[in-house]
Amino acid sequence: MYQGIDLNNINLHLEPPTEEPARQYYFMAKCQQWVQAFEQEHSRRPTFFTQTFGCQMNARDSEKLSGILETVGYEEAGSEEADFVIYNTCTVRENANNKVWGRLGYLNGSKKRNPHKKIALCGCMMQEPEVIEKIKKSYPFVDLVFGTHNIYKFAELLAASYGQQGMLIDIWEGTDKIVEDLPAERKYFFKSGINIMFGCNNFCSYCIVPYVRGRERSRRPEDILHEIECLANDGVVEVMLLGQNVNSYGKNLKEPITFAQLLKKIEKIEGIERIRFMTSHPKDLSDELIEAMGNSKKICRHLHLPLQSGSSRVLKEMNRQYGKEQYLALVEKLRLAVPDIALTTDIIVGFPGETEEDFMETMDVVQKVRFDSAFTFIYSKRTGTPAAAMEGQVPESVVKDRFQRLLKEVQEIAAQKAKALTGKVEPVLVEEVNGQDNTLVTGRLSGNFVVHLPGTSDMVGKILPVKLKECKGFYFYGEAAEFPQGS
Ligand code: SAH
Ligand code: SF4
Ligand code: F3S
Repeated sequence: MYQGIDLNNINLHLEPPTEEPARQYYFMAKCQQWVQAFEQEHSRRPTFFTQTFGCQMNARDSEKLSGILETVGYEEAGSEEADFVIYNTCTVRENANNKVWGRLGYLNGSKKRNPHKKIALCGCMMQEPEVIEKIKKSYPFVDLVFGTHNIYKFAELLAASYGQQGMLIDIWEGTDKIVEDLPAERKYFFKSGINIMFGCNNFCSYCIVPYVRGRERSRRPEDILHEIECLANDGVVEVMLLGQNVNSYGKNLKEPITFAQLLKKIEKIEGIERIRFMTSHPKDLSDELIEAMGNSKKICRHLHLPLQSGSSRVLKEMNRQYGKEQYLALVEKLRLAVPDIALTTDIIVGFPGETEEDFMETMDVVQKVRFDSAFTFIYSKRTGTPAAAMEGQVPESVVKDRFQRLLKEVQEIAAQKAKALTGKVEPVLVEEVNGQDNTLVTGRLSGNFVVHLPGTSDMVGKILPVKLKECKGFYFYGEAAEFPQGS
């Protein structure tokens, strides 16, 4: 049963409905029938394993896949030995693709040991025609392949794959459809990601995401609010609003609404105590949003604001639509409105044509802004993007040297920033019992910093005051405390 829909009440003698999501529930009922037959025959339920290779949106999609598998009766397994293995792939950089190819080789061996085993591939990598050709040629043991645009049809594809010999491939080039009200698994009972939009229209010249995720589509605010209200009723205290460029949320809706207006509506939902979002594009970060962050009690004191490069010349080539000075001005405005905000970023090193001077501009921004943490990436050439055809691809040795210098700077600053919090008492959302030491629990500050403290499983899901005792660079050791009087 999911949201009042009982799969047992669906009449499978009728033709499948044409409208969504009813059609998918019909196919979930079919899959359930298959699962029940499997259970009768083998005296156990079939198991599944989903592996996420990409970003938080990719992870959220995996929760939707797992949600459907659980709804039809599969049991989650902890490893790739499961009867049904699904890889949700990413193609943002070449090494994301390489990981998938490497692990597929291993799966082939495990399939030979388990005659019931089915292997499915989905996600961003599958939207690339050369990838599909390679799978057909070199990985014929894969059973099901689908892409990002038709992921909502997973139940239908799964049902079709039961009767199918050989590989079933279904890839769409694009879609303007958003299907609501399908099941989703939740990894944590107290926090959840929520898609607020899909796709991207920015076409940064290095990036493949717009090609594999399609054009920007925002969900209707009423659907988002309804989902969050249900989650809050179910015990969720922290939501992470997801989109490639959340700052342009709502612009293309029939009744346009800004991201800041959406945030204000979410803020009113009782039970929700922390609101996070990602990713923000600097070009669309409005004064309205900065003001909303400054006035909010629930929006976390954290903003992930990808810089990509500190050189205005490179930023122009990247089609980012802001320059170095604009970025710095934005940071100043943010810190004025939200003085304790933690700023994190993404930086690419070795974009085509990047000179030492360009790189020093990036270092300059890093030193001026002093990010609380930064993800640093070596530029990866993505076939089909404008940057792949650009002149002046930077030699590997030069890129590696710049990357090391940047990483060192970023890490030193991050450690200093964290150290400055030592001794403070801050609210921590406890997320789990520590995997390595079960006398500790692990949680996060509003600014997203990780804290370990002595504790027990009953603290999980609660927001508690914690004294930050010792900074270990990337995390703190803390202890349960009380907030100082008057705060
Ligand atoms: N929509 C988000 C980011 C999505 S991809 C944004 O605009 O910020 C996450 C990060 O991967 C990007 O911020 C960028 O730093 C990095 N990235 C994207 N394409 C890349 C490429 N071709 N090579 C190296 N890093 C890349
Ligand atoms: Fe890629 Fe740019 Fe879109 Fe982010 S905003 S997903 S970097 S094209
Ligand atoms: Fe990767 Fe697709 Fe996300 S390419 S970064 S999984 S949108």
